[in-house]
Amino acid sequence: MSLDFPLDRAAHPLPGAERRAILADPGFGRWFTDHMAVAAWDTERGWHDGGIRPLAPFTLHPGAAVLHYGQEIFEGLKAYRHADGSLWLFRPRDNARRFAASARRLALPELPEDAFLRAAEELVRADADWVPEADADGPEGSGEQSLYLRPFLIATEPFLGVRPSAQALFRVLASPAGPYFPSGVTGVTLWVTETYARAAAGGTGAAKCGGNYAGSLAAQNEAREHGCEQVLYLDSAGHGTIEESGTMNLCLVTRDGELLTPALGTILEGVTRDTVLALAPELGLRPVERAIPLAELRSRVAEGTVTEVFAAGTAAVLTPVTGFKGEGYAVTVGDGTPGATTLALRRAVLDLQYGRTEDRHGWLHRVR
Ligand SMILES: Cc1ncc(COP(=O)(O)O)c(C=O)c1O
Repeated sequence: MSLDFPLDRAAHPLPGAERRAILADPGFGRWFTDHMAVAAWDTERGWHDGGIRPLAPFTLHPGAAVLHYGQEIFEGLKAYRHADGSLWLFRPRDNARRFAASARRLALPELPEDAFLRAAEELVRADADWVPEADADGPEGSGEQSLYLRPFLIATEPFLGVRPSAQALFRVLASPAGPYFPSGVTGVTLWVTETYARAAAGGTGAAKCGGNYAGSLAAQNEAREHGCEQVLYLDSAGHGTIEESGTMNLCLVTRDGELLTPALGTILEGVTRDTVLALAPELGLRPVERAIPLAELRSRVAEGTVTEVFAAGTAAVLTPVTGFKGEGYAVTVGDGTPGATTLALRRAVLDLQYGRTEDRHGWLHRVR
């Protein structure tokens, strides 16, 4: 039986004036819309009780497995308002597939792709007024507004033994997102941690589970102590090859026209990463996925054969990486400012997401 998401409209949505005040400067992750998508699962009934309901707290038994063993997964994707007012999701089936893959890794029930998609669509329709208008004018990056969707799935069975939960709850929250770079795209510096690893072969690095992010917070603190905004993780076995940043995949642009990125394995298979790999040839770049030694990154950045570095992820799209620091070294990428290829690729992705160029890859999914 397919899972439906009928709307139970909020009786007291936020008044329009208050919503508009929030949308004027939403920031990221601070505000939530009037509704959420819900569904439940248990071993007897499978998926059931789908719906779009007024956003509300829910009660959880203190013995719920998620609170003890972190059996939880999540996703992140955005809804975009095009200039004609229509609303679109970008490659949502890729998020649905990754959600199912994460569920398998965390021994949670797989939500069928179609149900994931319907939940996202119906929530965006119910909260359509919350999707901000994009503004193509102003400094690069300043008009990038969207409605961020956060699907998640938690293990709710009250039981203290370590085994897969027999009950789970699915929710999708929506949160308006302002521009990541309100006053123009700037670069970040990455701290190459050798204290902490994000993932090991056979571990959960390729899944989007909460524990990966809880474990990243100490590394993030370490980065800040060294004056860096983000972390660059290395492989856990030898600390010799580069993996990814805490919430973004890493890409290198070489002087001879390669778009180089670490191969899949222990990293998260980013939708943005895949998008830039697919768009690379359109900008005259050859996409290459392979293991990248840290020593190669350092020497090629220093000698100038790696000309640009950027991080790719849904939240910031493409973030220029203008430098690295590690124990006893600091490297500046190029002249220390965002690179032209990075900015061109960034623009190409955004033009697609906001419907300003033709969607030849069939990545856009109309919601309304
Ligand atoms: C660890 C990690 N790597 C990469 C990404 C980028 O993935 P995407 O482009 O699908 O947002 C994310 C964000 O979801 C992430 O959490």
